[in-house]
Amino acid sequence: MDDLRDKYIQLIADAGDEAALEGLRVQAVGKKGEISLQMRGLGKMTPEERQVMGPKLNALKDEINSALAARKAALGDAALEERLRGEWLDVTLPARDRRQGTIHPISQTREEVTAIFAELGFSVAEGPQIDSDWYNFDALNIPGHHPARAEMDTFYMHRAAGDNRPPHVLRTHTSPVQIRTMEKEGAPIRIIAPGRVYRADYDQTHTPMFHQVEGLAIDRDISMAQLKWTLEEFLRSFFEVEAVELRFRASHFPFTEPSAEVDIRCSWEGGQLKVGEGDDWLEILGSGMVHPNVLKAGGTDPNVWQGFAFGIGIDRIAMLKYGIPDLRAFFDSDLRWLRHYGFAALEQPNLHGGLSR
Ligand code: DAH
Repeated sequence: MDDLRDKYIQLIADAGDEAALEGLRVQAVGKKGEISLQMRGLGKMTPEERQVMGPKLNALKDEINSALAARKAALGDAALEERLRGEWLDVTLPARDRRQGTIHPISQTREEVTAIFAELGFSVAEGPQIDSDWYNFDALNIPGHHPARAEMDTFYMHRAAGDNRPPHVLRTHTSPVQIRTMEKEGAPIRIIAPGRVYRADYDQTHTPMFHQVEGLAIDRDISMAQLKWTLEEFLRSFFEVEAVELRFRASHFPFTEPSAEVDIRCSWEGGQLKVGEGDDWLEILGSGMVHPNVLKAGGTDPNVWQGFAFGIGIDRIAMLKYGIPDLRAFFDSDLRWLRHYGFAALEQPNLHGGLSR
């Protein structure tokens, strides 16, 4: 019995993992294990022999079981030690050098525009990017047959087969916000509505998604002269120069009468865009006096109220101000471009501290 004891104590001490231990348990004290078989042999012994051997075998079985449990615990501790060593982490190391994100030039420009118009008493209004064709066209005095619908390269939303209602559109301009604001607030109104607009067009100065800011002022005595002053004041502040040179061209928009397109003097020399100098003109906005039909569509009485409106290409003026020659780069998500043209986070543009820093 001593041999048996020594053998198993040694084997257990040498077991390298839990599977080996389990094998030894079966071999020694399992149903058909060596010690179990010995215990079965007790039945064939004389009562005197049994009285000596019984307690001895029981003690041996207990000793083997304790040794198995102790070794199992030791192996578990070792495994945990090993894992802790592998997953060790020095929390006192300095943090990894992380690059800070930047504010996209479009967001920056939008903030600048908002800051300037806020100073002039305009608040910010919003409308949906998916809109009905009534808001995008009809209410703006663009009836179904009007060529402006075709010219705008509109993206139409899908309608289920058999649904004959006119499809919704991705808004082609921010002008529908004029109607929504009139409906919601009623005159008098002074708002700008910056946001995304969509047209199926793609080249160096056009992307299928781009940004506009709509402006709308409605009151009893709004005039074209106020429109002109407001735009000049805005552009001068925006470009942070003493004066900008603007060209008001008589034009036509269904939603304004009279209408004017405004170009700004610039140069493209060496692929670099500069404002205020050069022999080129870049069209940056459309404007005019709000058409009586548009006022009516918004529930505003054209016999009492009149207004001016304008729509500015945010991307266009961002390109001009920051010398970005290709519009498409705005939306390429090229990290090098974003780091180069991006603005420091946490620097809110304002007229006193400076618009762009
Ligand atoms: N909605 C026009 C466009 O996207 C821009 C525009 C022109 C807006 C004249 C106006 C406006 O408010 O008065 O081309």
